[in-house]
Amino acid sequence: MTSFTVTGGRPLYGTLRVQGAKNSALPILAAAVLTRDVSEIRNCPRLADTRAAADILRELGCRVWREGGAMYVDSSAPIRCSISPELMGRMRSSVIFLGAILARCGEAVLSAPGGCAIGARPIDMHLEALRSLGAEITEGEDRICCRASRIRGARIRLPFPSVGATENALLAAVLGEGETLLLGAAREPEIRDLQDYLNAAGACVSGAGTDVIRIRGVKRLHGAAHRVIPDRIAAATWLCACAAAGGEIRLRDVCHRHCAPVLDALRRMGCRAETREGEVLLRAPVRPGSPGTVVTGPYPGFPTDAQPLLMAAVLGAEGVTAFRENIFEDRYRHVPELRRLGAEIRTEGRTALVTGTEELRGAVMRAYDLRGCAALVIGALSASGRSRILGGEYLDRGYEAPEECLRRLGAGIERTEDTHE
Ligand code: EPZ
Repeated sequence: MTSFTVTGGRPLYGTLRVQGAKNSALPILAAAVLTRDVSEIRNCPRLADTRAAADILRELGCRVWREGGAMYVDSSAPIRCSISPELMGRMRSSVIFLGAILARCGEAVLSAPGGCAIGARPIDMHLEALRSLGAEITEGEDRICCRASRIRGARIRLPFPSVGATENALLAAVLGEGETLLLGAAREPEIRDLQDYLNAAGACVSGAGTDVIRIRGVKRLHGAAHRVIPDRIAAATWLCACAAAGGEIRLRDVCHRHCAPVLDALRRMGCRAETREGEVLLRAPVRPGSPGTVVTGPYPGFPTDAQPLLMAAVLGAEGVTAFRENIFEDRYRHVPELRRLGAEIRTEGRTALVTGTEELRGAVMRAYDLRGCAALVIGALSASGRSRILGGEYLDRGYEAPEECLRRLGAGIERTEDTHE
């Protein structure tokens, strides 16, 4: 059991390099299954989730190893078409392997990915897209079996711009016969990064980043070297930490355009944000104001993953901040925990109202999901005294050496590993 002890009340100063994007590395690692070759995935973050993805690749029959900041995947050997329930359970987003395994093997058997603390997270749109491409799918109590002797190009319209469904459809279609048109596709930068890797491996994909993606099926792919884009949510995390604790930080190796909605909100709070290629400089005011109303939505809207982060950053801000969470139906598990700091937060359905207070005191809190855990750390940084955050293992799923990153900025944070708990 991992926990973090945070000593709040200290402003943050310093420079930090932003890690590679978890939500880009994961689908690219799945895509490497399609190449029957060796791929080099550079700037691949060292996370619990990328380790889980590597273990899934090994279970499928790939060779996977790390050299420095790159993860290498050799998928030249024949691969299995199923993932064990244990490995499926370690990472909910392992469903992203479905399309790639189906395209490579003609069948895929996965245990149903459970929901998690932010919602039921069904995969109906994934399965509907694969059916459009010719897959026969049987859903058992806890297993999903997909078969497709051949994948035929199709015109697919997603009812919602689901990131995972877009990625699974893309991975299933790249080796299909004919052309696939994916309408209503998710526009997140990670989709564009996946397209860039696939095209470097010989695929013929265009339109990623817009809501219409065109895939011309090719016969084979080959290995490719690709550098994963910077993690815009990790960047948002450090920026929100600075807004909460005060001070001035510089982020390097960051794509500020991908962070635009979060930077806009921080500017509305009175932060000064200067951007140039690959860099963001953020200077926080002594006491930030409210950013007003924050509504999450599909990219390029305000990212749902940054909702907990910005909420933690406004706990001490002057005024009232309203949040509307439009993506996940149950993404306020961090609210009762933040209240233990003395935060004034009221929720009603998908809406949360935060009234800023200067009476934030350290507390013991428990995390239930990745970005919720990051929010508790940010809240603790803005409170006076010490806080303890239980469930700290969630942080390791999405952040590379999180306590080292924050200590580099002057934060007081220590990790404790309780083996017996
Ligand atoms: C991806 O999850 C990210 N994960 C999430 O980041 C992110 O919050 C989310 O996209 C939204 O941006 C990865 O990329 C690994 P969705 P995903 O499919 O693909 C509903 C993090 O912290 N839906 O876009 O699962 C779904 O329930 C994680 O890094 C269906 O109803 O998200 C949700 O309400 C958390 N049926 C909404 O759509 C489906 O078949 C958006 O989900 C698929 C989705």
